[in-house]
Amino acid sequence: VQQGDIFIIRNVVSQKLISNIIEYLSSVGRHSFPNYVPILRGSPNSHRLNISDARAYVKGCFHQFSFYPWNQDVFNFFGIFKNIYYLKNAINGKPIDKFLGLEPEDGCIARLSFQFYPSGSGYMNMHSDPVDHHQLVVPNLMMSNMGSDFMSGGFCTIGKNNQKLMLDDNIRAGDVVLFNAVMPHGVELIDGGQECDWLSFRGRWILLFATNKLADNTNIRNAVDIESGLGGSN
Ligand SMILES: [Fe+2]
Repeated sequence: VQQGDIFIIRNVVSQKLISNIIEYLSSVGRHSFPNYVPILRGSPNSHRLNISDARAYVKGCFHQFSFYPWNQDVFNFFGIFKNIYYLKNAINGKPIDKFLGLEPEDGCIARLSFQFYPSGSGYMNMHSDPVDHHQLVVPNLMMSNMGSDFMSGGFCTIGKNNQKLMLDDNIRAGDVVLFNAVMPHGVELIDGGQECDWLSFRGRWILLFATNKLADNTNIRNAVDIESGLGGSN
């Protein structure tokens, strides 16, 4: 997977499953407090709000729900999505079940990161993710549809001729997108001009199949925010 290439796998996850997940996460998000929890061995599943948080490595505005393989969850997420991690590991030349066990491996762990970008304020600055032994591509599951769930903004990257490339009008909920994580990418403001209502959960949902270094692992670099010039990790 070279820089500049983007691969789209169509209809990986059903609409029904996606709407069940969004309904469940919206309910969790409405009825419990968001809190920042660092990525460490044994961390609980959790959700947090990032409203241009100065502590984040990449500036953005979204609501994030994180799940780890060592915790159980009602959907058995790591069970139902294991094939996408197997593909990710295979692309990286790793044993397919690497980072999916009950303990971190090489200071890293798989983390399912659902991200909700609200209409009116959701965005993420252009950035480059750490590409090292642990990951080359970060698969993304699209969970919303441009044109109905939100009308403008979304995934953007820099194409081969250095031109800005917007992707969301070419993908549908259920599609998985693969790209080299070092490629500059970000999320352009969702539905600019609209009033933001965090509790409505209206906007753009995605699921990132992340493999993260633990917060105490200093061997792998952090993500780099290209727009604000700060170092950091999301
Ligand atoms: Fe990223």
